[in-house]
Amino acid sequence: EYDAGPYLPGRGGLRNLKRAASGCRGCPLFRDATQTVFGSGPARARLMLVGEQPGDQEDLRGEPFVGPAGRLLRRALDEAGLGDEGAYLTNAVKHFKFTPAPRGKRRIHKAPSLREMTACRPWLLEELRLVAPDVLVLLGATAGRALLGSSFKVGESRGQLVTMPPPAGPGEGAAPGQLLATVHPSAVLRSRDREAAFAGLVADLSVAAAALG
Ligand code: URA
Repeated sequence: EYDAGPYLPGRGGLRNLKRAASGCRGCPLFRDATQTVFGSGPARARLMLVGEQPGDQEDLRGEPFVGPAGRLLRRALDEAGLGDEGAYLTNAVKHFKFTPAPRGKRRIHKAPSLREMTACRPWLLEELRLVAPDVLVLLGATAGRALLGSSFKVGESRGQLVTMPPPAGPGEGAAPGQLLATVHPSAVLRSRDREAAFAGLVADLSVAAAALG
């Protein structure tokens, strides 16, 4: 069965975790991806955001949210007053999944399977335990499903702060923070009414901003 668990270092901080993740072979996605794209940001961040998986540019550069969706996310964070918050950014799945494109063309993103999401979950749980943010923002259905279970839907709970459920398995200890789900920035980019979708994302992020005070 796919599982990143055996690749986790079992001790040390975020830096050590990131180094270990660079060698993860817990599922087959490492084979076609350029590199592991681990989370990025201050270990003491009060705000943590979780996306789906790295995209084409993230895969090439090894950093999360550096492509078009990331630029939109940064603009939304700015508008919500979180531009200077120093958030920790990561993804539910740490390798880019794609269908190959003809030479020179941008590769097409493919949604990760539940198996791949589940396999990658130990990295995310460990990031969450180590960063222990006051507010956790789930960007889109994949992040929600990875963390809260496969029946999670964004539409039902977006923009609402809830107490973070205690993680199943290892990871208890830190005071529980709050959690909020919203749409994925890529969904805003694909939306027919981009402006309204963007405003919706900003509104949800503003709830997170208010919670941080
Ligand atoms: N989309 C994501 O979910 N994550 C990234 O890092 C980039 C795009």
